[in-house]
Amino acid sequence: QPSLRLGLAGLGTVGASVVRLLNKHSKDLAVRCGRPIVLRGVSARDRTRDRGIDIGNVNWFQDPVKLAMDPGIDVFVELMGGSSGPAEDAVRAALETGKHVVTANKALLARHGNDLARLAERKGVSLNFEAAVAGGIPVIKTLREALAGNSVSRVAGILNGTCNYILTRMEAEDMSFGECLKEAQRLGYAEADPTFDVGGFDAAHKLALLTSLAFGSEIDVDSIYIEGIERITLADIEAADELGYRLKLLGIAERTESGIEQRVHPTMVPKASAIARIDGVLNAVAIDGDFVGRLMLVGPGAGGDATASSVVGDIADIARGTALAMMGRPSEHLEPYRPAGVRAH
Ligand code: HSE
Repeated sequence: QPSLRLGLAGLGTVGASVVRLLNKHSKDLAVRCGRPIVLRGVSARDRTRDRGIDIGNVNWFQDPVKLAMDPGIDVFVELMGGSSGPAEDAVRAALETGKHVVTANKALLARHGNDLARLAERKGVSLNFEAAVAGGIPVIKTLREALAGNSVSRVAGILNGTCNYILTRMEAEDMSFGECLKEAQRLGYAEADPTFDVGGFDAAHKLALLTSLAFGSEIDVDSIYIEGIERITLADIEAADELGYRLKLLGIAERTESGIEQRVHPTMVPKASAIARIDGVLNAVAIDGDFVGRLMLVGPGAGGDATASSVVGDIADIARGTALAMMGRPSEHLEPYRPAGVRAH
């Protein structure tokens, strides 16, 4: 089979990890996908920065939109971030010119996901975004594929690694909010603008995407009640502790009599509960389905390598021809992939 050609825009923490992963596992990926995956073009703001990755043989594009439209690529991987501007322009350009898109950009999808999904559907290409929600946890796949036979009544969890890291370290080490945030930034967990993390907006973007998939509704970030952790003090954490609780920033979406309710806010959870024991940069998503019951997925919610794992999982789905269109239907034009030795019947 011909190789799958990638154009990657954004070489920050996640972008650099994606390049390293693709280099490290290129042989295994080619076997698993039945075809090689090759990086054809990259785009980033600063060409000269040393990122510790090998992109010497890859075409450089100063303009991500030009990369997105380049006929030499099949998939546009958007890791620039930002809910509008160059990221939006480039994703639209890629879809318009018939490229599949893989993105980790929850802010963009929370704002423009309905529209972009329709555009992808019209063009018969896939728009994959596993890395946009809960970093390395395959929660999009779980909701769209594994739980397709369920009616979901509730999705809830810890959706921001930076906030969970801050709350955990404040409690364990009596560190101040500011010191913990600096450490989260140093470790590559925080958004470029960390007020997105601590203000609860990043968790809200992710919740909006989960809600849409869980309940088959349009993405609606504006109706989410949002409260962040900026005003949480060590005294609050200690008071919760004395009462037998821990403080967690939760995102919750549930079916109620008056419709789907979505909210993000600091929550006191009993110390003995499973969610109370999710520490550091881990995220957790609990899903209630009518046939499966309750399941909980736990894993790293931020960080370059964990997020790159989800990005490459999405790319592999496209390479194999098993990618679904954003709202859950298989992309029609993709040839179903059959592993060698499996005959059609
Ligand atoms: N800033 C985000 C977080 C990164 O801390 O969870 C992953 O989306």
